[in-house]
Amino acid sequence: MDHKKEQQKQQAARAAADYIKEGMTIGLGSGTTSRYLIREAGKRYGQGLHFYGIATSRDSEQLAASLGIPLLEPEQAGKIHLAIDGVDEIDREFRAVKGGGGALLREKIIASWAEEVIWIMDESKLVERLGAFPSPVETVPFGMPFVKRRIADMGAVPVLRMGDGKSYLTDSGNFILDVQFAENTDISQAAEQIRNMPGVVETGYFGQMCSRIVAGTSSGVKVME
Ligand code: 5RP
Repeated sequence: MDHKKEQQKQQAARAAADYIKEGMTIGLGSGTTSRYLIREAGKRYGQGLHFYGIATSRDSEQLAASLGIPLLEPEQAGKIHLAIDGVDEIDREFRAVKGGGGALLREKIIASWAEEVIWIMDESKLVERLGAFPSPVETVPFGMPFVKRRIADMGAVPVLRMGDGKSYLTDSGNFILDVQFAENTDISQAAEQIRNMPGVVETGYFGQMCSRIVAGTSSGVKVME
């Protein structure tokens, strides 16, 4: 474990938790940085800050429930005031790649639903150009071979994500292709093209969906708006 990174994730999560206000419904992200956020939010709930959570994965749901955060199902949630989630990569224009933890579908639904979105991270996630981290593409199982071939035809390298010796399954029962694009590919255009392929449920490209970035860095927490 990289202690410096973990510290930065923790710092970012703590700073972002300050944006949770009484009575809000909060979209709770997934991944290690979001787990720090959920723990911090749970602590604040225990200290008397009342809010509801709506989770982007079963994992986050379980953690939040174990900390006593009251959770809403989508049909119970009206407004989502704020979503806080991690990223795998983000550029200066706030365009992000997410889904390393496999929760991209619910994450994109919650981020689109929320009135405000904050991405939290350690400084290694801030990049000049997207593309070093493979972009996840969620596909229905039946469509995966077709989508895989079409993506390869684009000159990219799609790899079926595995887990425990079999195809990894998302919370929604779908497969994930992790796609490495050729250098200098415009990821937003490529994601749009992939999104239109029958069988694709969602891509991990999140174009300018957040209004604020909270990053832990070696010189403290940096907030970018
Ligand atoms: C999960 C995600 C995560 O937010 C992303 O992978 C970042 O994870 P971590 O905080 O563990 O680095 O998109 O689907």
